[in-house]
Amino acid sequence: MEVVIVPDATAGGELIAETIASLLSRKPDALLGVATGSTPLPIYQALAAKVRSGAVDASRARVCQLDEYVGLPVGHPESYRSVVLREVIEPLGLSEASFMGPDGAAEDVQAACEAYDKALAEAGGVDLQLLGIGTDGHIGFNEPCSSLASRTRIKTLTEQTRVDNARFFDGDTEQVPRHVITQGIGTILESRHPILLATGEGKADAVALTVEGPLASVVPASALQLHPHATVVVDEAAASKLKLADYFRATYASKPAWQGL
Ligand code: F6R
Repeated sequence: MEVVIVPDATAGGELIAETIASLLSRKPDALLGVATGSTPLPIYQALAAKVRSGAVDASRARVCQLDEYVGLPVGHPESYRSVVLREVIEPLGLSEASFMGPDGAAEDVQAACEAYDKALAEAGGVDLQLLGIGTDGHIGFNEPCSSLASRTRIKTLTEQTRVDNARFFDGDTEQVPRHVITQGIGTILESRHPILLATGEGKADAVALTVEGPLASVVPASALQLHPHATVVVDEAAASKLKLADYFRATYASKPAWQGL
């Protein structure tokens, strides 16, 4: 995998927004897989600024969700559908019709998961998948020991993830749903270009294990080692435990500009 160390979250957001812009210029109806949480917000803000300034035409872009809470009422402000509508679809000026996600309120959750995997395949597959990383190394909501071949399915959040996400639920861990639907690791690995952004010191251990540790389901993000074109963008704080940081810096500094990410 390629590791790019940027000075801060804003620079990471700008770099990835540039990559999305370049993809949309080659493929205007690209399918963009989007993550939620705090980390990707600088990407969405930078991309929306490019759309507003006319530098990017995102009008034909298609967007798909990575994961969703199970059991939140439809329209709950913290459902990931609501978050993506608020942070991505509206700022990019897209319509809801260009957006798909798993149905976290479905009565038959298993059927909803299978339907979502099928819908992704029928849409031609995900061109660029944005990912954050959990402090426990999860991608999507594939918690430690998720099958590296997993498909979209229901998962149970770890206590750590519920504590981490309580900030979106008035600081109350009890309000954070226990169950989620998440694209599986196998599903994520089918995307043509997964890009993981990690910022802040709290992610440094998970990043080091992902990049320099062995491939292991106990660190789900390490599955990106299997992808022929995975990119990990980290700020200085999240890179602070990488032993090969200087090598990654030198490699990126001498990379031909035409290659992009
Ligand atoms: C969210 C998701 C999660 C988050 C991760 C990091 O859609 O899939 O894997 O990316 O929990 O969250 P933040 O960015 O809030 O630290």
